[in-house]
Amino acid sequence: MLKTIVSSILVLSLSLSAETLHMHKMDMTPDDDRQSLGIKGTPQGVHQLSNMREHLAAISEIVGLMNTGKYDEASTIATEKLGLTLEKNSMCGSFKNQSFEQMGVVFHKSGDNLAQTLKTKDHAKSMVALEKVLNGCVLCHSTFKQ
Ligand code: HEC
Repeated sequence: MLKTIVSSILVLSLSLSAETLHMHKMDMTPDDDRQSLGIKGTPQGVHQLSNMREHLAAISEIVGLMNTGKYDEASTIATEKLGLTLEKNSMCGSFKNQSFEQMGVVFHKSGDNLAQTLKTKDHAKSMVALEKVLNGCVLCHSTFKQ
């Protein structure tokens, strides 16, 4: 009996503190003043996120290939996954937001630049080109949300 009471009190206080934590977290959420593209929860939005996960996977693959000296393969991935293809050009334009489109195009051009630089097999230069690509991810993410 005593055991039951003690464990009920424990469970209750645990769930209460979880609630307090949660509320505290909500209170601490900073204002999100990023510009919305108005595509959250839409099929276009779902498609965009899957594209984004591919971007991240591409970066991971490129870094892995660079670390094993496979610059040509890394270059091919940079062209195909991050470079400015016709498909990506029209994707970036499909959100009906000019500054998003511009940011996307500049980003994909930095992907092409990375692909070119990787072909030189110069690790240091490739890292600088990769940094530019990553800066493009960061800039867009701090400006836009779905
Ligand atoms: C031109 C704009 C733009 C660029 C460039 C960009 N992203 Fe995104 N990305 C977005 C937007 C918008 C979202 C949705 C964010 C939100 O609604 O909070 C997003 C979301 C994501 C997500 C979340 C995916 C999910 O399933 O929730 C990942 C991961 C991501 N981006 C990775 C990247 C990486 C890595 C790069 C660079 C190699 C990159 N993105 C470049 C605009 C961009």
